[in-house]
Amino acid sequence: MTSQQPLPAFPDGFLWGVSTSAFQIEGAPAEDGRGPSAWDAFVREPGRIKDGSDATVATDHYHRWPEDIALLRELGVGAYRFSISWPRVLPSGSGRVNGPGLDFYDRLVDALCEAGIRPAPTLFHWDTPLALEEGGGWLRRETAQRFADYAEVVAARLGDRVAHWITLNEPAELTLLGYGLGVHAPGERLLFDALPAAHHQLLGHGLAVRALRAHGACSIGIANSHGPVQPLSDSAADTGAADFYDTLSNRLFADPLLLGRYPDPGLAALLPGPVDEDLKLISEPLDWYGVNYYQPTLVGADGSAGDFAGIDIPAELPFALHRMPDRERTGSGWAVVPEGLTETLRTLRERYGERLPPVVITENGCAYPERTEDTRRIAFLDAHLRALHAALAEGADVRGYFVWSLLDNFEWAEGCTQRFGLVHVDYTTLERTPKDSFHWLRHALRGNRR
Ligand code: FCB
Repeated sequence: MTSQQPLPAFPDGFLWGVSTSAFQIEGAPAEDGRGPSAWDAFVREPGRIKDGSDATVATDHYHRWPEDIALLRELGVGAYRFSISWPRVLPSGSGRVNGPGLDFYDRLVDALCEAGIRPAPTLFHWDTPLALEEGGGWLRRETAQRFADYAEVVAARLGDRVAHWITLNEPAELTLLGYGLGVHAPGERLLFDALPAAHHQLLGHGLAVRALRAHGACSIGIANSHGPVQPLSDSAADTGAADFYDTLSNRLFADPLLLGRYPDPGLAALLPGPVDEDLKLISEPLDWYGVNYYQPTLVGADGSAGDFAGIDIPAELPFALHRMPDRERTGSGWAVVPEGLTETLRTLRERYGERLPPVVITENGCAYPERTEDTRRIAFLDAHLRALHAALAEGADVRGYFVWSLLDNFEWAEGCTQRFGLVHVDYTTLERTPKDSFHWLRHALRGNRR
């Protein structure tokens, strides 16, 4: 363990938590009536997942959840962000509700409450029911309404105990990686024709907020990815490309939610349906705004560094992603830039001012391969928490921080090759072993209030 100074104190009532998602940890894809998701189909396509793993077991959380709640209790977090699998609750995405699927989350929520941990479920973390995906998924407007119907079913059952709701996780990634570039499920490579998926997710969010509020929910947010975008050079071509990428990655979702408009009229023109009408619903004020922060992005007009998250950006797109030079990197090759978190929070305040509700960091973390002696993860978390504290000192209203992730888990197209957990998972025995970072965080949380 590193011998670092104690962390500065965070405000009273600051919410500490960890995050996971259903597809990445649960396994049990066909148990108790769960239907297939777009990801179940995607992992079976040859060559899609780096190590050929398929998440059919993942971390076996579906069976080992009591052990995982015991870990949360030991860690001393005040909240747990997990996601609810839509196809576990509605096997074909709409229509028949699967009682045993809902029972699973009911038991989980009860056990969290009993452990004194606030449940903070995400309703959608990319696992679209396959039946809906086959009918067009988020490219179809109807999916937004199906999502709201599902939100209603969940709220009716869990709403009396859920403390904080998250509608969607990173709709930008699903749009870009899933529908635009095809490196995530559903594997579509539609480039700009993927944009309806952005609008329909936002519409689904707006409709779901309404459904949740009708059931008395009073703490609703969304988890959007954000990070600084830097141009490769001062040239007009590079700054233009960086600005465009900034629009896609930072503003395409935040502007409609917080300002009630799309950031770029050119992009808005590509969207289907009564967009102006929809924007009124989409921009209903949120109780808080979730930020997932990992790293900044370096963007130029030309060329592509193939090693940036391994994503190949087609030449038709007006930007190229580059590897940030001279930066320490995590095990997955992501740049370690803690001050990027302070900057992200500053930029959000500058752009949205009073329209920005209190912020919660809904994800931040890193992949490293060490089994338990994960000194680099401790240094990463320590530095990012100091950067967050600096943002608070500048006036940012941040109410909570969630580490990604409690457990090593199935990292999408990277399969089981990237370990983000505070707890090591042996994928053969499924044994959980807290890493040094787990003990470090437990200690740090004791020194801070929840
Ligand atoms: C985010 C995802 C999360 C996890 C982390 C590492 O983009 O929301 O599921 O994969 O990255």
